Amino acid sequence: MRYRRMPIEIESPEQMGYGNIAHNLSESSITDVSLRDLNLNLGDLVLAYGDHYGLPELREILAGDGNGLHPDDVLLTVGAAAALFIVNTSLLQAGDHMIVAHPNYATNVETPRAIGCSVTTLPLRFEDRFRLDIDRLEASLTPQTRLISLTCPHNPTGQMLTEAELYRILEIVERQRCYLLFDETYREMAYGSALPLAASLSARAISVSSLSKTYGLPGIRMGWLINRDPDLMERFLAAKEQIFISNSVVDEAIALHYLRDKAAHLRQIKTHIDERFHITKSWMESQTAFEWIEPQGGVVSFPRIRPDLPVDVDHFYAILNGTYKTFVGPGHWFEQDRHYMRLGFGWPGLDELRGGLANLSRAAAESITT
Ligand SMILES: Cc1ncc(COP(=O)(O)O)c(C=O)c1O
Repeated sequence: MRYRRMPIEIESPEQMGYGNIAHNLSESSITDVSLRDLNLNLGDLVLAYGDHYGLPELREILAGDGNGLHPDDVLLTVGAAAALFIVNTSLLQAGDHMIVAHPNYATNVETPRAIGCSVTTLPLRFEDRFRLDIDRLEASLTPQTRLISLTCPHNPTGQMLTEAELYRILEIVERQRCYLLFDETYREMAYGSALPLAASLSARAISVSSLSKTYGLPGIRMGWLINRDPDLMERFLAAKEQIFISNSVVDEAIALHYLRDKAAHLRQIKTHIDERFHITKSWMESQTAFEWIEPQGGVVSFPRIRPDLPVDVDHFYAILNGTYKTFVGPGHWFEQDRHYMRLGFGWPGLDELRGGLANLSRAAAESITT
């Protein structure tokens, strides 16, 4: 493995220091929950190793989200990040070929590269409303293609596949006898109906998700992967055991406590997202420096500074970050032009969000070259 640090992690708010940021529009989750709000007593918890698959009651709740899924189809991991690592390293080796939508959550591109396999990136373009070109996906298959890796709702654009598109991709995967890694970390934040869990539709699909984004619990590092093929699950378990054996039992206990009230939390979370989405949409409609493709799910979007606006983009970020202490995810986090930026609207408080959006307009106006 050839590991390389990614800009999105080097420049992440937790590494920059939250205290240095007044308007944090760079996150991809809702507001972080604090332990105090959970009203939880873990005094009797024994700090032993946990079940290697993960706490059975938790796996039961998670399996309940998909038709026909069994708790043994679920493997708990340290965040979705570890699930992605386990899937990529279990299915790919140097010499294999894989296809990944691009831009993407950086790890989804970087881990296959670190493994040293051949990577075809499928471009998602603003001009195409960031739609995935499935004909192009099909044309990119080779006899060595082992994995197709997609994220839905998508990070950083907030776009979604339709159910018909998901079925078409699964047909391609079955025909090719490869696998679909379907990163569903934002699935429950779809504005309309969520897609079915991909793993419930095919034994060749691996669904990945976590409690980090929808539920605002990234600090407990609780994620999972779901797949219906017992042999494959055994391989994933072997990988998990070699990396970290079991999850933290403290994390699992907190997750279980939280998910017992899943439906109630989700209702509140939908209101939380809706409020912030509408503030962002109104701002977007009220100004002329930026344009976006309206997201369909999640709490991020990928707007750009209008191409016809003569903005000095380095100056723009210098003003935005330096003068206004406002942070977004600049395009280079996603290997894109820096006129693009990931705008995260789910994490900040309402005033912080409104202020941050106003600062984006100010920074753009102040960085126009004449
Ligand atoms: C699409 C996607 N997948 C996975 C992750 C990893 O998150 P975590 O490990 O906190 O679950 C992220 C984090 O930004 C993400 O955006």
